[in-house]
Amino acid sequence: FLLIKYVFSDDESSAESGDLSELVESKPLPIPPLLEDLDPDPNKSEFHLTAQQGTSEILDGVESETLGYNGNILGPVIRVHEGEKVKVKMKNNLEEATTLHWHGLRVDGENDGGPHSGIMPGETWEPEFTIEQPAATLWYHPHMMEKTAKQVYEGLAGLFYIEDEVSESLAIPKEYGVNDFPLVIQDRKMDASGNMEYSPNMTDMMRGLYGNAFLVNGAISPYLEVPKGMVRLRILNGSNGRTYNFSLDNSQKFYQIASDGGFSEQPIEMATIRLSPAERAEILVDFSQLETGEKISLINTASNLVDSASDSDDDAEIKELMEFVVTDKESGVNEIPKQLTEIEPIDPSSAVKTRKFIMEGMGTSLTINDKTMDMSRIDEEVDLNATEIWEVSNQGAGKNGGMAHPFHIHGVQFQVLDRDGNPPPANESGWKDTVLLQPGETIRLITTFKNKGVFMYHCHILEHEDAGMMGQYEVQ
Ligand code: C2O
Ligand code: CU
Ligand code: CU
Repeated sequence: FLLIKYVFSDDESSAESGDLSELVESKPLPIPPLLEDLDPDPNKSEFHLTAQQGTSEILDGVESETLGYNGNILGPVIRVHEGEKVKVKMKNNLEEATTLHWHGLRVDGENDGGPHSGIMPGETWEPEFTIEQPAATLWYHPHMMEKTAKQVYEGLAGLFYIEDEVSESLAIPKEYGVNDFPLVIQDRKMDASGNMEYSPNMTDMMRGLYGNAFLVNGAISPYLEVPKGMVRLRILNGSNGRTYNFSLDNSQKFYQIASDGGFSEQPIEMATIRLSPAERAEILVDFSQLETGEKISLINTASNLVDSASDSDDDAEIKELMEFVVTDKESGVNEIPKQLTEIEPIDPSSAVKTRKFIMEGMGTSLTINDKTMDMSRIDEEVDLNATEIWEVSNQGAGKNGGMAHPFHIHGVQFQVLDRDGNPPPANESGWKDTVLLQPGETIRLITTFKNKGVFMYHCHILEHEDAGMMGQYEVQ
């Protein structure tokens, strides 16, 4: 598995990410450990996390400084069950304040881990919540004001799986690390010495950071041995700024079975899937028709040139993210269920209110409804248990009129009613918490606000979020 990787970028404005031409020996895909539940009661769980500094050998023979939860980079997978009471003890061993946000989780504001829940160095934060939503692949990451981009970039992110009776009874791959694999996809700016210090240039600040190295679970171009049968991949776009179009290099089709907030009603056959920052997808790939030893790559076919600000940063030739090597092991699952779950559509006529949000990006001025984030200001007041329609527009004007923005709401999962008046694509018809808006596009989404407290909504390009493309709503 010796691969010669020419990792480079010709973005002249960022000398630190110049030509690496690095020899990287392809390593097995790192599989994050499942975090141990310390509570013996089957209806309760207790998890301990520590945010800490470390080093990781991302390029061969050199150590990069990284951050991780309970380790050097990224974090363990936390797995919980619907109905379970969860307690977390999160210790901050960093030299700076951080928070721990549960992205996609329905919790009260005080347990959500947004920018109001700062944990000082040496301190511990102990959120508690009950899981009140269906099976899904969520994630956790820091959310300090103006520090989110840097801390996520340096390695702080992990997956949070919810299981329920549906996920446990379906005949789909569900053996962690055997036929059910997490894939956290991130790009980083790195030089040959392994330095991946967070130092966005002007283009990164405007567009969101794009890196010259692609990491899957913290490794460059890893390989994964897969059984000859059905394999489930839980993909998180954990990148700061980049949107991907994922495909397989043999043009094989796959089946999306879940979006951000859980299963779709039926599997959706696809050849390529677009994920913007923070979006997740679970897909089933059928390796049964391939030869033992055959290698298939997961590739990114998205063009790097997403807007006028990205003049010279064309690294379109780096496409391969990782490789699957087919073994002769059985996966135990060789078919795709026809029906996965049922999703009750929220009736638009039950909405008591329609709110409008206009996202606007002009150079480094990034606003929602003409405002940048102010932690002391509540932008929207929502009644507890109210159903509302949020109409979100990406005002595609000005110098950076070409920018797309992924809109995310804390504390809820929503349904997309329409995109520019048309029904959403099949893979956006289920539960979502983040949705990408192309320039000029308007999306209507609907949800019921069942949890109390102060929550964020924001663009999930982390450089945009840190620049203030964020607002607060309070449910009471
Ligand atoms: Cu991924 Cu404000 O969250
Ligand atoms: Cu979130
Ligand atoms: Cu944005």
